[in-house]
Amino acid sequence: MKKILALVLTVMMMTVAAGCGGGATKSSGSGSGSGGKQITMGFSQIGAESEWRTANTESIKKAAEAAGINLQFSDAQQKQENQIKAIRSFIAQGVDIIAFVPIVETGWDTVLKEAKDAKIPVIVVDRDVKLSDDSLYAAKLGTDSLSEGKKVFDWIDSYMTKENKKPRDGGSQFNIVILEGTVGSSVAIRRQEGFKTEMEASQNASKYNILASQTGEFTRQKGQEVMESFLKSNRDKIDILFAHNDDMALGAIQAIEAAGLRPGKDITIVSVDGVKGIFQAMIEGKANCTIECNPLQGDLLMETAKKVLAGEKVEKLVYVDEGIFPADVAEKTLPERKY
Ligand code: AHR
Repeated sequence: MKKILALVLTVMMMTVAAGCGGGATKSSGSGSGSGGKQITMGFSQIGAESEWRTANTESIKKAAEAAGINLQFSDAQQKQENQIKAIRSFIAQGVDIIAFVPIVETGWDTVLKEAKDAKIPVIVVDRDVKLSDDSLYAAKLGTDSLSEGKKVFDWIDSYMTKENKKPRDGGSQFNIVILEGTVGSSVAIRRQEGFKTEMEASQNASKYNILASQTGEFTRQKGQEVMESFLKSNRDKIDILFAHNDDMALGAIQAIEAAGLRPGKDITIVSVDGVKGIFQAMIEGKANCTIECNPLQGDLLMETAKKVLAGEKVEKLVYVDEGIFPADVAEKTLPERKY
């Protein structure tokens, strides 16, 4: 009798152990939620304004597929109101988790409160949000725009010194023009802030003058148009272009050539992103440096989503790794670039 009882107890314990361990493994490996059903993620992307954004979207779609997560993808066509509508529709559908790239920094409190009330966790991707209550999102993954802006100034300052450059107008200061990203976006605000504070704190601050700064909306076409207008009023004064992204720098290169100047030589060009297009321009001697902003955030997003849904502790803020690529490494590096 004792032996039979011991056998029954052993079988019961093994069944319980298999249930716990097996469930957890399956959940993280197959994109299943805690109830064993497939995870559905509602994702609101801002649009397709740049080469970088296309790579970001691809990374997220591929990673969702690989992780077995059902991705409900919505393209906001550069409008915050479309993102808010998409998030509300994800809540109405009862998705398991919501992720979004906030086109601008503010104006998210109400809709994120609605997600919280519906008990749907939210992950902020790529750009930052400013909220009255940080418990409205579970995690933020992306890039450090403040540091990108600082790196831009530091690179320019050491390059101008190393190359023994002189202001083109014969004056005592290098004139800088800036093509800014989307107005109100955290990336545009922080890249500008990082650049300016680093410049003001530099011992060479007096060598630089910001001549003009205007939005080019992160697109190639607008970058070209705004650069044309900068050149119209200051063709023989501009020494340096800082473009908040590579696409605007690529548009500006066309404007500079059309004005009869040599991009990368008469005007030093530094931008942010690290897309293949700017590597090609650097190989052709038309741009000088790109500060990487890594769009390959899909795997990290899916991994974080599974952890959040499994109730595991996650870092509130995670930045992806980023490098600096000047023109002299472009040829060697281009074949290794993934976007
Ligand atoms: O939010 C990241 C920025 O948005 C990238 O620098 C830019 O190319 C994109 O459109």
